[in-house]
Amino acid sequence: MHPPLSGFYHYQPNNGSDQCSDHPVAGSDQSSFQRRLRDNEDSGDQCPISPAMLLHEAMAMRTLPIFVEMRERPAAVVGGGVVAARRVEYLVRCGARVTVFARELSDEFFALRGLPNFRHVARDPEPEDLRGCAICFIAAEDERLTLAARDAAKKAGALVNVADRPRLCDFIMPSIVDRSPLVIAISTGGASPLLGRMLKARLESQIPAAYGRLAHLMSRFRQRVAEAMPSPTMRLRFWEKALEGPIGEAALMGNEAAASARLTSEIERAGADLSRPALGEVYLVGAGPGDPDLVTFRALRLMQKADVVLYDRLAGEGVMNLVRREAERIYVGKRPDNHELPQEEISALLVKLASAGKRVLRLKGGDPFMFGRGGEEIETLAEQGIPFQVCPGVTAATGAAAYAGIPLTHRDHAQACVFVTGHGKDGKIDLDWTALLQPRQTVAIYMGLRNLEALTREFVARGASADLPAAIVDNATRRGQRVVVGTLGTLAAKARAAELSGPSIVIVGTVVTLRDKLDWRAPVRQAESGVSAAADSKE
Ligand SMILES: C[S@@+](CC[C@H](N)C(=O)[O-])C[C@H]1O[C@@H](n2cnc3c(N)ncnc32)[C@H](O)[C@@H]1O
Repeated sequence: MHPPLSGFYHYQPNNGSDQCSDHPVAGSDQSSFQRRLRDNEDSGDQCPISPAMLLHEAMAMRTLPIFVEMRERPAAVVGGGVVAARRVEYLVRCGARVTVFARELSDEFFALRGLPNFRHVARDPEPEDLRGCAICFIAAEDERLTLAARDAAKKAGALVNVADRPRLCDFIMPSIVDRSPLVIAISTGGASPLLGRMLKARLESQIPAAYGRLAHLMSRFRQRVAEAMPSPTMRLRFWEKALEGPIGEAALMGNEAAASARLTSEIERAGADLSRPALGEVYLVGAGPGDPDLVTFRALRLMQKADVVLYDRLAGEGVMNLVRREAERIYVGKRPDNHELPQEEISALLVKLASAGKRVLRLKGGDPFMFGRGGEEIETLAEQGIPFQVCPGVTAATGAAAYAGIPLTHRDHAQACVFVTGHGKDGKIDLDWTALLQPRQTVAIYMGLRNLEALTREFVARGASADLPAAIVDNATRRGQRVVVGTLGTLAAKARAAELSGPSIVIVGTVVTLRDKLDWRAPVRQAESGVSAAADSKE
């Protein structure tokens, strides 16, 4: 049942694209399912979710978004009203041979009547009329006609769509933004056609018609680029540069001649440069603690540029969904046997991929320089002359504090905050207790869940009051976030009772009491899960 994990786990995503709307479907994909299943297995301190539940979630996408070639293929439309006319327009535009069966045609058909691939039959269809038909749209008022036409079309092997009758459909019609050859199809899975229309309106206004011209231009030069540049990576770079620079600008401005001339010279130049091996780059990016909304703009830009991504379980599914779909995914986190990939191997892989000209995204949970070994990973890059850049992220402690309503500093409580790791070497906690026990200070402890009992005990043994407020924020900023509040004397028992799974941040200090007033997420939590704020344990 579980996919075998040995060595690096490579995942090549399918190019998931848009999907249909009007009727039932919902968004998720097999790629995210596989990731979740894998991350879930990767025990660490995560709470396991049964593969059956994950499969159930993955099944939420009930239709397959595809674009069907219709050129010169026979298609039938039953009905002569407005909806039928819209269907005919799309069919005609994609080159299908369309026959409309309707006793009368509405005015909407006026412009369609004279087209060479349009035929009107002024009666109901007979079963033999539909033979050989690839696709059949039914938009008739008459129930008997609708059912008879559907039966006949299905018997003829056609894919059938009945307007406003999802149960009778083999496929559903998406909302369409047409910048041919660029076409965007939108579906809300039947959840909200209104939302689909709003999204369509937004895209219509944000994607100028000129994008169609740009796509045409690219299509004309595609073959020449492929001949001049054999490597897919090189072609990708070439097109990105072309689109982001003056060529794209000229095409969007409608100056196709200038764009074509410049493309021609750039192709020649790129072809002549082939002998020079291109060096890639590594992006060490902090993904934040899990909520994809906390990813920075810069991180998002780099995530969208990457050819390959190295990630571990802390990156989280929501964040991984922001990575460019076509990017190769390599899991370098803990395996089921609880072993992490040695740091040297990750660094060596980064060097290897970047040396092969790839843009490598090393995605880390939180901030890469905060208990993230980010520094170690890029040291090797620096030594080997591989270009890299670092993008900070929201670290787990600040994310946890914000989403739990516990300010880490506050004029009445704490003027300092110390970040420490509770992950003791060889099981022994090795902390500077004098520094930690300072008054008017908050201590944020990473990796402290497993040692919580010993940690809190040690605090008290070293002189802290057993009544000092403390909290643990589990799965901070994520959908399953839980907060347990207590004191140094009670927190470990409460966390155990709550069966927290991690990852967790422990916050020690009187700032914890502020949560009573500042728990701004209570209504969000209630709305999200239907579980009341009482699920959080409070003292
Ligand atoms: C190896 S450290 C990485 C920290 C990361 N670089 C950062 O800046 O947040 C892993 C620890 O970070 C904390 N952590 C990471 N994500 C978290 C989350 N969503 N909620 C609570 N703690 C988290 C946990 O203490 C976990 O054991």
